[in-house]
Amino acid sequence: MNSLVETAAVLVAAGKGVLAADESVATMSARLEKAGVAPTEENRRDYRELLVSTPELAAGVSGVILCEETLRQRLADGRPFPAAVADFGMLTGIKVDTGAKPLPGNESETVTEGLDGLFPRLREYVALGARFAKWRGVYVIDDQCPSRAAVHANAHALARYASACQYAGLVPIVEPEVLMDGTHSLARCAEVTTRVLGAVAGELAAFGVDPAAMVLKPNMVVPGASCPEQAAPGEIAEATAAVLRQTMPDDLAGVAFLSGGQSPEQATANLAALQEIDAPWPLTFSFGRALVQPALAAWRGDPGRVHEGQRALSQRVRANSAVLGETAAV
Ligand code: 13P
Repeated sequence: MNSLVETAAVLVAAGKGVLAADESVATMSARLEKAGVAPTEENRRDYRELLVSTPELAAGVSGVILCEETLRQRLADGRPFPAAVADFGMLTGIKVDTGAKPLPGNESETVTEGLDGLFPRLREYVALGARFAKWRGVYVIDDQCPSRAAVHANAHALARYASACQYAGLVPIVEPEVLMDGTHSLARCAEVTTRVLGAVAGELAAFGVDPAAMVLKPNMVVPGASCPEQAAPGEIAEATAAVLRQTMPDDLAGVAFLSGGQSPEQATANLAALQEIDAPWPLTFSFGRALVQPALAAWRGDPGRVHEGQRALSQRVRANSAVLGETAAV
């Protein structure tokens, strides 16, 4: 087995998921401010140190996705983040896109950028200790969207990114996120997610991306957040699995879902229902907000409350890991 295939298998190992702590500087700063914390480089560092040094995190987390700022920072004890994450028993990931930018001509939609100069950057991230990477394409649902242009442009970029990662020695996490915003139904989300994932799968194949050496990070198929008719976890799991089976090759290393604005409890309940589904791949989590929001709320930037923040993260990780069943043999 080649080493990328092994790394991908480690990311989705039984009982484990991925912690997405890779908010961009702008997004992280906004979340800190909302929690009453000054949006400084030092506070962003302190917060990420709180997360990655949570005791026993590796029992339920295989890898942590960081942004470039954190990748280059050090823990208070002087260890660079990637070295510390490895010491804690986890793999370091790096978000490598440069953000979703307005798609000229379709201004309500975006295309995720970052392909220029990507390959040398990837090589540098490998040298800094990264083992896997992430790129997020974003799709909105309304009467007109997503347009063919948005579906095509984002699928193309995701595939070029994934191919470059595999050549550079990184496992790509491929994240096409169909947003939950809107009044659309579960069926409409299923239809759009099928189109989006179908386009992504086509481009991945065209670029020769090895499915066994990548992890897909999709949205779950859910009704719009403002849809009057919400769905039970069983329906969400059925719809999500049906879309994945229709679009993804059987030899994909695994699927690690984003939480996308679901509450921590909803995301866990849906992940639990997904475990009941017969699928050819491990189905796990790569949550951001559903894992870290309670930790940020408990910490609030107070050095005396680091322990409370870590306990909140630990609780969410254990809840998600528990629904995955078997604990991985570490
Ligand atoms: P959420 O789980 O908060 O959607 O974040 C996952 C992620 O990595 C977004 O890019």
